[in-house]
Amino acid sequence: MNSKISGLGHALPARIVENRELEDVVETSDQWIRERTGIERRHLSTGETTTDLAAQAGRMALADAGILPEQLDLIVVATMTPDSFMPATACLVQKELGADRAACFDLSAACSGFVYGLSVADSMIRAGTVRRALVIGAETLSRMIDWTDRTTCVIFADGAGAAVLEATEEEGIVRCTLGASGDDENILTTRALPLRNYLIPEGAGREMPGNGYMVMDGQTVFRFSTRVVGDSIRQTLEDTPYGTGDLDWVVPHQANTRIIDYAASRLKMDREKFFVNLKNRGNTSAASIPIALSEMRQEGLLRPGQLVMLTGFGGGLTWGSALVRF
Ligand code: ACO
Repeated sequence: MNSKISGLGHALPARIVENRELEDVVETSDQWIRERTGIERRHLSTGETTTDLAAQAGRMALADAGILPEQLDLIVVATMTPDSFMPATACLVQKELGADRAACFDLSAACSGFVYGLSVADSMIRAGTVRRALVIGAETLSRMIDWTDRTTCVIFADGAGAAVLEATEEEGIVRCTLGASGDDENILTTRALPLRNYLIPEGAGREMPGNGYMVMDGQTVFRFSTRVVGDSIRQTLEDTPYGTGDLDWVVPHQANTRIIDYAASRLKMDREKFFVNLKNRGNTSAASIPIALSEMRQEGLLRPGQLVMLTGFGGGLTWGSALVRF
């Protein structure tokens, strides 16, 4: 048994923020942001929650697949900006959609989260545990940004994307590979609640550095990302009948256009095969790949039979790729 992506959807907050608007927030310029990142504008929440965006994207993906919420066996939400630690965002999405039969859980793999989620759902379908799954990447990153830190606040954005996966005898998800390097934990972090209880005297606990906001060593992330995109794509193609020349599209995590340019040249691939929507969307972490896929579908760029490589990379550090026949 294989699994196949049968529906796609996405949702974005209504409010669009142009680079120029950020010139009033931190010391930056439209030109700096465009040249260093490729971003011109992004959507930021003015109240839409991660659950709102995830449910809206999920609803669109279900309609695209032509299946009802009650036919879902599984909902996985990849997010690092849940609305609550408990319940999981996936449970809140289940309630919104009325997907009563679905098992629900969230998954934390930062910007690689959607590819991790796809891999888990694909494995569960192959094992016969579930037949229909909804995999969502959803973020309201604006809530974990320090809006006085110009090195991060110009990059990150809000949104959600979703894919329906169904059991099939046809070729669908061909191969997923995942990786992580916990040794590099400090390169991209957002620390959670400090470890504090009545047994631990004030100041003596294992205080994690940071303040609940994202902290990023941009240049190290840049070096890691440019290396890992090529390596991960090559590793995923290994042991398959396919090579880079067979790919109709590469849909990378939308982190930075310079990372994508560099990866294309390292792989000696035509840059036109890399889908990029950073200009209008910014970096939406776990949501960026499914938003891109859903937009490609809407624009008529993603057609049945095409072979597509999805590749995610981010905090953890984590990375992963999925070779998908549409
Ligand atoms: N506006 C204006 N100037 C800025 C800004 C800003 N928003 N941010 C930093 N600068 C300044 C710096 O302070 C520095 O000034 P200095 O030379 O006086 O010290 C100068 O610009 C250059 O800074 P660098 O950090 O060297 O700039 P760089 O060319 O490396 O670009 C960037 C920074 C865009 C963050 C880059 O390192 C990058 O893209 N890294 C990858 C990070 C990324 O994509 N993160 C998201 C991915 S995480 C994930 O999704 C995997």
